[in-house]
Amino acid sequence: MDKIPVIIDCDPGLDDALMLMLAHGSGRFDIRAVTISAGKQTQAKTLQNALKILTLIGATDIPVHHGAEKPLLRDLVVSNDVHGESGLDGPSLPIPEMQAQPVSAVEGIASILSASETPITIAATGPLTNIATFLLAYPQLKSKIERISLMGGGIFRGNMTPLAEFNIYTDPEAAAIVFRAGVPITMCGLDVTHKALVFQKDIDLFRALGNQAGQVAADLMDFFSIFYRENRVELNGGAAMHDPCAIAWLMNPGIFTTKSCYVDVETKGELTSGATVVDFYNTLHKEPNATVAYDIDRDAFLDMLFNAIKALP
Ligand code: RIB
Ligand code: CA
Repeated sequence: MDKIPVIIDCDPGLDDALMLMLAHGSGRFDIRAVTISAGKQTQAKTLQNALKILTLIGATDIPVHHGAEKPLLRDLVVSNDVHGESGLDGPSLPIPEMQAQPVSAVEGIASILSASETPITIAATGPLTNIATFLLAYPQLKSKIERISLMGGGIFRGNMTPLAEFNIYTDPEAAAIVFRAGVPITMCGLDVTHKALVFQKDIDLFRALGNQAGQVAADLMDFFSIFYRENRVELNGGAAMHDPCAIAWLMNPGIFTTKSCYVDVETKGELTSGATVVDFYNTLHKEPNATVAYDIDRDAFLDMLFNAIKALP
């Protein structure tokens, strides 16, 4: 099976780290670059976290590009909740064995797409600042994007406000640019990621793998679970594997339940800024611009993640 050429934009991030493990360990992707967004932590921290994780999984040959220091218009608000002070608390991680590329995320994406004869997929699991900036700077390269598979938003819920999910909430203007760009989008929002749950019994299986990646994955999941067990009691002890969903959909869309919907982003609402407005019942009669995932075969998803991490050092 041919590998999927992909550029991954992320803000590591505990679940971003697990997403990178899934992407690299699965062997299904030709990862052309990893570009870094600021999110729960600063660009300096998320960049270092990406270099550490890629070193851990033996992916030091993947170019890493620094991205935007802050959202397009708004201030970056970092927080230690969920991912910790480093942005990747939990496991001990190696000192990076490589450095970031000298050119920025936007220039890195532009040079990769320009040089490619065929379109390339983008997977985005952080705020969409880099992707939006690229689309504004290089509109002529839109046709070289096969699809954007992103973790972000939600049909019926948020996690930063009642209706806004973190990645969209952090930079709503960037998200609006991406959803309005006319590029095929897969949206893995909270509706599906809150069903992509790992429980302690699953975490114990990752730890029992015996390899370093399994140990680190279990440590990441254990730390991630602290927040979910205290603040998402409805998930019955499960922790949501948000970011791996964006990669898992590219690997096997069949394990997801999706609907083609028109999606836009609220950027002005006093109570709703950062909400993905998903026209699930097509009330506006507008052309759908996103494949919206809202259910998942959790066991199949866990098998994919387990087998990918089993294949790592
Ligand atoms: O709301 C979940 C998202 O916010 C995930 O991408 C997580 O890594 C954080 O960035
Ligand atoms: Ca993320």
